[in-house]
Amino acid sequence: MSILVTGGAGYIGSHTCVELLNAGHEIVVVDNFSNSKPESLKRITELTKKEYKFYEVDLLDKKALETVFCENQIEAVIHFAGLKAVGESVEIPLHYYYNNITGTLILCEVMKKYDVKKMVFSSSATVYGFPKHVPITEDFPLAATNPYGRTKLMIEEILKDLHSSDNNWGIALLRYFNPIGAHESGRIGEDPNGIPNNLMPYINQVAIGKLDKLNVFGSDYDTHDGTGVRDYIHVVDLAKGHLKALEKIISTTGIDAFNLGTGVGYSVLDVIKNFEHVTSQRIAYSFTHRRSGDIDKCYADTTKAMKELGWKATKNLEDMCRDSWRWQRSNPKGYEEETFK
Ligand code: NAD
Ligand code: UFG
Repeated sequence: MSILVTGGAGYIGSHTCVELLNAGHEIVVVDNFSNSKPESLKRITELTKKEYKFYEVDLLDKKALETVFCENQIEAVIHFAGLKAVGESVEIPLHYYYNNITGTLILCEVMKKYDVKKMVFSSSATVYGFPKHVPITEDFPLAATNPYGRTKLMIEEILKDLHSSDNNWGIALLRYFNPIGAHESGRIGEDPNGIPNNLMPYINQVAIGKLDKLNVFGSDYDTHDGTGVRDYIHVVDLAKGHLKALEKIISTTGIDAFNLGTGVGYSVLDVIKNFEHVTSQRIAYSFTHRRSGDIDKCYADTTKAMKELGWKATKNLEDMCRDSWRWQRSNPKGYEEETFK
């Protein structure tokens, strides 16, 4: 029996594939490379010394997806495939709704047809909208502030309806906080297209000299130093959370949401200082206006994941900065070309 990983060539997917293979799972990966490169798949094999099946398939192509289920004995699906850039989702909302929602609907239909009723879904802390206070527990009211967030919220609702219609489904909705860092080998990591939107890849590109300076969005937030506070979580810890969620859904039915974060909030300035400390690189920055839609503080209460999944993040901000930089330094152009070691 195999675990199907949709979007397995991407940032979080590739790290999860490594953990799955290392734990002895057989996996089948599908990806359309809309936001990733085939090189990441080679490196999964390089790191694990294990082979696995890959299909270059778009989830929107139902026939091709059926072939994957027909040719493999799929036990459960970890569903990462989706578009994730908030700003882009405002520019091209229909494309986001179509790709993320229709892609998930088609996946669910095919799963149902092949009697595969176990899914771990990549949701996001974005479904909490503007939380009234922190830390955030899973029972907070849900809201979305942009089309990307709405796709996550709508998919959560669709999966809840699916479970209500047939309670043989076992589904985990994993609400990630801010994934950063990279595999400690430096061989896989985050490889954003163009100028990064997110803090850590931006800092990395300033450190490597690709970008001149970081713009810190806002200095007057209600936080300890005025800059935005987030719950950064190491991508390898996050990947391990998927294995715990998988164990749970394989042995039970039901649908449940879990926060995956560390439970600790760090400001933008905390991250810069930490990065500078562990890498000895100076990060030039200046303050600019707030970014529209940003909130002051966002961090998780992780009690539920600890109690019900037996999962807890183990890596700290220093590990995250060190591993992000190791990946960036040894792959200055990401997966684009052969790297120096
Ligand atoms: P990513 O873009 O690196 O990976 C997503 C992968 O899905 C890519 O390889 C892309 O090519 C593939 N894909 C997209 N649409 C597809 C389709 N229609 N068919 C087949 N493949 C398709 O993103 P990531 O950071 O690894 O995120 C994985 C998931 O986690 C996404 O659903 C994202 O929304 C969610 N998430 C990410 C973050 C974050 O900060 N990285 C936070 C919360 C939630
Ligand atoms: N920031 C800057 N300068 C930058 C980029 C970010 O100051 O160039 C600040 C932001 O204002 C924020 C913090 O750094 O205070 C983190 O910003 P990110 O863009 O890295 O992350 P967000 O918390 O805004 O959003 C991320 C994902 C979303 C997801 C959300 C919750 O990008 O998709 O976490 O999971 F919805």
